[in-house]
Amino acid sequence: MGGVVIVVVGGWNQMTWELRLGVDWAFGDPVEAFLTEEGSMGVSTAVEGDRLVVSGYFPAEVERGGLEIRLMLALAAEGLTLDPGAVAWKWLEERDWAEAWKENYQPVAVGRRLLIVPSWLSVPEGESRMVIRMDPEMAFGSGTHGTTRGCLELLEEVAEAGALGRVLDMGSGSGVLAIWAAMLGADEVIATDLDPVAVETAARNAECNGVAERLRIVECSVVPEGRYRTIVANILASVLMSCAGSLVAALEPGGQLILSGILREQAREVQLAFEGEGVRLERTLFREEWAVLLLKPVERS
Ligand SMILES: C[S@@+](CC[C@H](N)C(=O)[O-])C[C@H]1O[C@@H](n2cnc3c(N)ncnc32)[C@H](O)[C@@H]1O
Repeated sequence: MGGVVIVVVGGWNQMTWELRLGVDWAFGDPVEAFLTEEGSMGVSTAVEGDRLVVSGYFPAEVERGGLEIRLMLALAAEGLTLDPGAVAWKWLEERDWAEAWKENYQPVAVGRRLLIVPSWLSVPEGESRMVIRMDPEMAFGSGTHGTTRGCLELLEEVAEAGALGRVLDMGSGSGVLAIWAAMLGADEVIATDLDPVAVETAARNAECNGVAERLRIVECSVVPEGRYRTIVANILASVLMSCAGSLVAALEPGGQLILSGILREQAREVQLAFEGEGVRLERTLFREEWAVLLLKPVERS
């Protein structure tokens, strides 16, 4: 892992404690997984010399002693021992966090053709990739998370194999997937999110990237009416499985369904739930601990 990766999962304006862990490279994945399981609202990883600094962000009421003990036990279970001096807590004012987050968010190259550039930074000179300017604000979808990257990569791959047609992006967050689909030539993109703040953010990002005319963003929590050649949904596995029937029913024959928000160990269960509705698994990408599924309708003769 190089440079800095930061993952924001929402609610960052309430974060007040930063837990910084200076660790060997071997600790990176288990520490990140531990912080996420403990409810960290974001995880950032920075390279400092020959070490990694992994940070988690917790609300004011976090029970810090208990969390440290659970961390030691979780690492011990992996055969790793953390030097107590490697653990540091820092109180973050709301503003500090927002600024720190902006400093850490750097351009992200995804797949073969995309570069996501924070909207407050300049596009690197001579850049040949297609560029999405992004300010996720409080919505999920900076482009750094494994689930988002995997969906962006599969969108690029299916667009190269044939037209995306009419696209549904369910759970659009910052709008990053919907914007990428529009840039890849989708006829029209319907993006939905149940969070009104995310809907507003996605609308601003669509405008900033010049695709607002082909992108309709709707606040809703169900699969919207209509048929789509391409559906992408990066939500939790449980939510995906509860919508499996309506997602498959909304798919055009010959279309494609891209799903993420699925942990590796949940991939099989999600696959079976969707295959029961009339699609078959075409391909799975794994990005960190996440799985991204590409499914296609079963051809009926
Ligand atoms: C993991 S984020 C994905 C954001 C973005 N599409 C990406 O790939 O980075 C999931 C988003 O789905 C939204 N969401 C959760 N359940 C939903 C539902 N039933 N319908 C629509 N949006 C939903 C959340 O508010 C959140 O913005």
